[in-house]
Amino acid sequence: MPPMKVLFIGGTGIISTACTHLALTRGFHVTVLNRGQRDGLRGPEQLVADINDPRAAAAALGDQRWDAVVDFISFTPAEIEQRIALLRGRTGQFIFISSASVYQKPLAHYLVTESTPLVNPYWSYSRNKIACEERLQRALQEEAFPMTIVRPSFTYGDTIVPLTLNSWPNTYTAVARMRQGKPVIIPGDGLTLWTMTHNSDFAKGLVGLLGHQGAIGQAFHITSDEVLTWNQIYEAVAEAAGVAKLNAVHIASDFIRACLPAMTEGLLGDKANCAVFDNSKIKRFVPEFVATTRFRDGIKRTLAWFDAEPERQVTDHAADASYDRLIAAYERGLEAARKDFGQ
Ligand SMILES: NC(=O)c1ccc[n+]([C@@H]2O[C@H](COP(=O)([O-])OP(=O)(O)OC[C@H]3O[C@@H](n4cnc5c(N)ncnc54)[C@H](OP(=O)(O)O)[C@@H]3O)[C@@H](O)[C@H]2O)c1
Repeated sequence: MPPMKVLFIGGTGIISTACTHLALTRGFHVTVLNRGQRDGLRGPEQLVADINDPRAAAAALGDQRWDAVVDFISFTPAEIEQRIALLRGRTGQFIFISSASVYQKPLAHYLVTESTPLVNPYWSYSRNKIACEERLQRALQEEAFPMTIVRPSFTYGDTIVPLTLNSWPNTYTAVARMRQGKPVIIPGDGLTLWTMTHNSDFAKGLVGLLGHQGAIGQAFHITSDEVLTWNQIYEAVAEAAGVAKLNAVHIASDFIRACLPAMTEGLLGDKANCAVFDNSKIKRFVPEFVATTRFRDGIKRTLAWFDAEPERQVTDHAADASYDRLIAAYERGLEAARKDFGQ
């Protein structure tokens, strides 16, 4: 049997690097298509193009066919439309990387399954992912376009520190605050339940779906089964950063939204809600899938990566200053409330 031929659109990003690595390890013939702006792994065939430039993308693909294509970088229905036009009749499977933020907010039931309704009034990113999924459902029905939908939740690797209310993509910002002894903001009481998935675990589920005929027309989330509170997540990051005591300020999401509305779509539309997933569907389709990286261990690897090269430790100074302003506003309000109540 010749090796399975797969194309990753992306392939050198936070999630996709681990998928490229695992697919190569499993002996697949892997091609990555990206703009060549990041360090990639040795081993895959490299196509250089901007996927959103239809001519350049078509020229890069030539007349090749694939057993499976994974698209890591579609965010709008217009982009999905272009991928369908580009890949129609040329792939045995098209896997769209959506997002678990598409699930109902606020949740009617705490445990998320693939049947949880898709509705997110708070975050335009999620609504666009829902519209992409709907376009692919139509392509499946109208022309048997062989789509599979995969919804990652917060997925991290060596290069990002996954926290809420932190700069994106300069995620070292919160670690810099912790190391300087400055307070970090945890929304609510920090007791909301969350799931952090290491990219090497996500890759096991994703690669197991490649070429899986039963997965055509299906949607899956792929996450860890380790459920933590935000307080536990921040404490694990502080421990990995060598910070003896986490200095945390708990602020209600409504207060954060009132002060920093531009920063809060992803808070109200995702991180302020519980994120607990029933992973039985991916385990049924990919029986070898099991997430094995505990956050406490994975985040130590992340911090080791940042500490290995000081130039990786980039602080987003504008975001940092806005956290200082938010904390100052909150503390003034708290002090005034204490006085009002005679305390
Ligand atoms: N990480 C999470 O927590 C999370 C959660 C839910 C959903 N997701 C989804 O996961 C996907 C992101 O995957 P990722 O983490 O691997 O991506 P990433 O870290 O954002 O990296 C993007 C990848 O795509 C390439 N790329 C970007 N723009 C391109 C363009 N115009 N043309 C060609 N290549 C391009 C990049 O390489 P070059 O820069 O060299 O082109 C890189 O390989 C997104 O769809 C996101 O919505 C992520």
